[in-house]
Amino acid sequence: MAVGSTKFPGEIERFSALDRILHWASAVAFLYCFFSGIGIAYPKFSWLLTVLGGGEFARWLHPWAGVVFSIGAILMFLKWARNMVLTSEDIAFLTRIKAYISGKHEELPEAGKFNGGQKLYAWVVFISAFLFFLSGIAMWFPENFDVGLVRWAVVLHTLTFIVAGAFTVIHIYMGTIGVPGSIWGMIGGKVSSTWAKFHHPKWYKEVRER
Ligand code: HEM
Repeated sequence: MAVGSTKFPGEIERFSALDRILHWASAVAFLYCFFSGIGIAYPKFSWLLTVLGGGEFARWLHPWAGVVFSIGAILMFLKWARNMVLTSEDIAFLTRIKAYISGKHEELPEAGKFNGGQKLYAWVVFISAFLFFLSGIAMWFPENFDVGLVRWAVVLHTLTFIVAGAFTVIHIYMGTIGVPGSIWGMIGGKVSSTWAKFHHPKWYKEVRER
């Protein structure tokens, strides 16, 4: 059986029901914004708007989905920020990310509940939610703002989209194919002990000692 498979006996809780509701509500809202945003910004991809409920509807829903994403991200921040503080070990993990990609976990500091890459992604999500919200408000109600400021808001919105979008593509890959077994923690709340011991050994030991 592959290391990291969840079909191993002995499961431990990784995410509470509230963690999972917050994650999936924010994820669905983010992905709606992501695809409708591409459809709105690039005429070549306007067919995405048809798939997402029609041009007028998708343009109306996009900012509201952004509000849902921002609120979800604030709540995730309140719930998870304590676990996401970057330590010197996380920085060492990030500088040796090549070893992680080649599966040489023994060359890396032992990961706690989240590894350095996951923590970095969490901060990208928290900060991007803030920047999307700020710039989005100016773009939603342009008549209330100076024209120059609205133009800067469009630039900020686009740059945030590029950074958060690129990180999210990597995140979805890692959460599904890249790290087999991860997804079960975010669906049913539990992961196998084997998975935890392999991917998050420090966290596994902490949980066992509780
Ligand atoms: C289909 C899309 C997605 C899948 C399959 C997915 C999957 C996952 C999984 C499996 C985890 C837990 C990883 C672990 O236990 O170590 C996780 C964590 C997380 N997800 Fe997602 N996710 C998706 C979309 C998103 C989106 C769009 C956001 C942003 C709003 C997001 C934000 C986070 C954050 C901040 C964490 C905690 C840090 C981390 O583990 O990277 N996810 N996700």
